Amino acid sequence: AQEQRLIFIIFGGSGDLAHRKLYPALFKLYVKGYLRQHFAVIGTARRQWSHEYFRQTVMESVVADIGDQEQIASFAQHFYYQSHDVNDAEHYIALKKLSAQLNDQYSAGNNQVFYMAVAPKFFGTVASHINSEHLLNEQGFNRLVIEKPFGRDLASAKALNDSISKTFAEDQIYRIDHYLGKEMVQALPIIRFTNPLLAAVWNNQYISNVQITLSETLGVGERAGYYETAGTLRDMIQNHALQILGLIAMDRPAEFTASAIHDQKSKLFSQLQLYSAEQVDQNFVRGQYGPDAKEYQQGYREADNVADDSNTETFVAGKILIDNDTWQGVPFYVRSGKRLRRKATRVDIVFKPEANNIFATKLAKIVRPRPVVLSLVIEPKQGIQLLLNATTPGNGLRTTLDELRFQPPAASLADSQEAYEKLLIDIVEGNQTNFTNWSEQYYTWRFIDRIRKRWDEVQPDFPNYCSNTFGPEASDQLLKKDSHEWIFGT
Ligand code: BG6
Repeated sequence: AQEQRLIFIIFGGSGDLAHRKLYPALFKLYVKGYLRQHFAVIGTARRQWSHEYFRQTVMESVVADIGDQEQIASFAQHFYYQSHDVNDAEHYIALKKLSAQLNDQYSAGNNQVFYMAVAPKFFGTVASHINSEHLLNEQGFNRLVIEKPFGRDLASAKALNDSISKTFAEDQIYRIDHYLGKEMVQALPIIRFTNPLLAAVWNNQYISNVQITLSETLGVGERAGYYETAGTLRDMIQNHALQILGLIAMDRPAEFTASAIHDQKSKLFSQLQLYSAEQVDQNFVRGQYGPDAKEYQQGYREADNVADDSNTETFVAGKILIDNDTWQGVPFYVRSGKRLRRKATRVDIVFKPEANNIFATKLAKIVRPRPVVLSLVIEPKQGIQLLLNATTPGNGLRTTLDELRFQPPAASLADSQEAYEKLLIDIVEGNQTNFTNWSEQYYTWRFIDRIRKRWDEVQPDFPNYCSNTFGPEASDQLLKKDSHEWIFGT
């Protein structure tokens, strides 16, 4: 790896996200040589910590992962702490000084990454102080990294975007959607655009429907405070599910560059059919988990910090239609939920039956082709599966459904990189491909707003599914109405 020179300034440096995800991932970059001598990390937060104390917490967060003690200690020496009140201009001036000093000390090339690991309500304040207190370097690069939630509807996303774009240009902003850091998600363009046999059938002439499943077994855990303000539609569908849909359905970009990919994805999102209230009722289903059948697990409403009559959805299934020539008439079903029976992130692509079935007249009883299905499995074990009609020896023409399965060997899976590590490498190298841009946010929120608005008008009947199932009955009905069924987990 090529060594990068830069100063990281992490707002929220004492927090959970930083310790759970960021520091372990930064350490991997250190071990692999993306970061060596010429970098420093400034953690800022309200509490008063010494550099030493901060380094201790960093070492503890890293140790759990991989640990050559000596390397961890030398890594932690690059960390500095600055107590900081996001509203206090003086603090930004102090921060600027510290950054300049560390830049000289480490010869960091005047490059800075500002990482917002704080609640989104602070993004605007921090960005505007970065501007007014002149924290941006004129030489070198300035990059801003922000985490979701990126707004809670189109209006708030727009306000948020306006507040950061006064300071940062679009090509300096890295909006993290950690699903775009998953290896199999990054493989989607390879699978689609380097295999002519797939590219040739990637349209409504051959594809019957596409099913995107993001199922989780965990409940809301300790995140109810946030989750009560979000729900699955905002938490998983607006971002992760639609990003996968975008990579599956976008037109072929002219070349594999960040801007060409963003343009195609954002064009696709602009073509999502916007639903009326009535269409929302027909095409989207929501759910909330209750206890499991044996009542080992509590329902959502029983969780800490959840209201007894909470109407927050923990499950969404929906049918999305795309208004363009390629996808006219092809439903894209998306589904995500908590406390489902299995953890899985996958795309099942169901093909139409052969239009001209030459066996239909005389051999219909024994030649019974079933739909061909291509499954792109992102998690738990990434891989590709293809169900094809074939025969078994000795059985004549009687059709069987054969499965071709590719799964990377265990040895190569051991080398796989965690999403945060991959995304951080992109950030330090200045590659925006696996981040989302404003236009994508705009169109996905515009689509989601219609559903949210309708759901806010109508009282749901919750809870409506048991933990450890695949969600409410209505989710199966949604596909049945179209004479389809979920490929995974029915
Ligand atoms: C996060 C959501 O973005 O993704 C969580 O806020 C969810 O609610 C998580 O649990 C799932 O991520 P992963 O990588 O475990 O599938």
